[in-house]
Amino acid sequence: MVFKNSYEDDAYAAAYAKLEFPGTYYLAFRDLPEILASHVEGDQALDVGCGTGRSTRLLCKLGFDAVGVDIAEEMIQKARALDPSGKYSLVPDGDLSQFANDTFDAALSAFTFDNIPTAEKKIALLSELARLLRKSGRIINLVSSPEIYLNEWASFTTKDFPENAQARCGDRVKIIVTALDDKRPVADIVWPDEDYREVYGKSGLEVVEVYRPLGRADEPYFWVSETTIPPWVIYVLRKI
Ligand SMILES: C[S@@+](CC[C@H](N)C(=O)[O-])C[C@H]1O[C@@H](n2cnc3c(N)ncnc32)[C@H](O)[C@@H]1O
Repeated sequence: MVFKNSYEDDAYAAAYAKLEFPGTYYLAFRDLPEILASHVEGDQALDVGCGTGRSTRLLCKLGFDAVGVDIAEEMIQKARALDPSGKYSLVPDGDLSQFANDTFDAALSAFTFDNIPTAEKKIALLSELARLLRKSGRIINLVSSPEIYLNEWASFTTKDFPENAQARCGDRVKIIVTALDDKRPVADIVWPDEDYREVYGKSGLEVVEVYRPLGRADEPYFWVSETTIPPWVIYVLRKI
């Protein structure tokens, strides 16, 4: 079955462009400044799957000279409108040939791999990222945990999709971002930890560290599952 990227849609891109770091998303980004500071040397960064530029703007705020790339024209247009002086580039699927070898100190992908349907495509993109990284460079791969599709959250709901519980690696799962004005379900691809580790190995990468941020009781959010079940997994990777 052909996997349709939910983000190649003007109305969804417009809703996504208003999203900053509400609720459950806060947990995806809360620890990134510290993670980047402790693992990355240098300031040249690529944001692969930059969407409407939220993650690219964060990198720039943290002092990186960042360029965002995405396959969805609708998303890139919104990124450029929100951040006219930012660097954003529309790329054909998996094609990062415009960048030379050993260019970046960091390659961030925030939720991008949730939308890359097969092991072959994941390995192809990860191998490209490895080519673009400097020797000391790091890939920061922020992905949804398989549990996000099975529980309720401050900013997501999955209760209307009980079929998610049967999903295995590579299957489509559905989730609604309640923090968005556009409440249509998004289709993602579920990919458990052991399967990520397999594609990393086949891409010439090794895991340096894994973070699974949890919500804390003193944070100003109405956490639902976030204090006990990690919604996100953040892999720090290096070239072997
Ligand atoms: C959930 S959005 C996240 C956007 C952004 N990183 C953020 O945190 O707001 C995922 C993005 O990945 C993009 N994407 C999916 N496959 C891609 C690929 N092979 N190369 C580049 N971008 C891709 C989608 O078009 C979408 O804009």
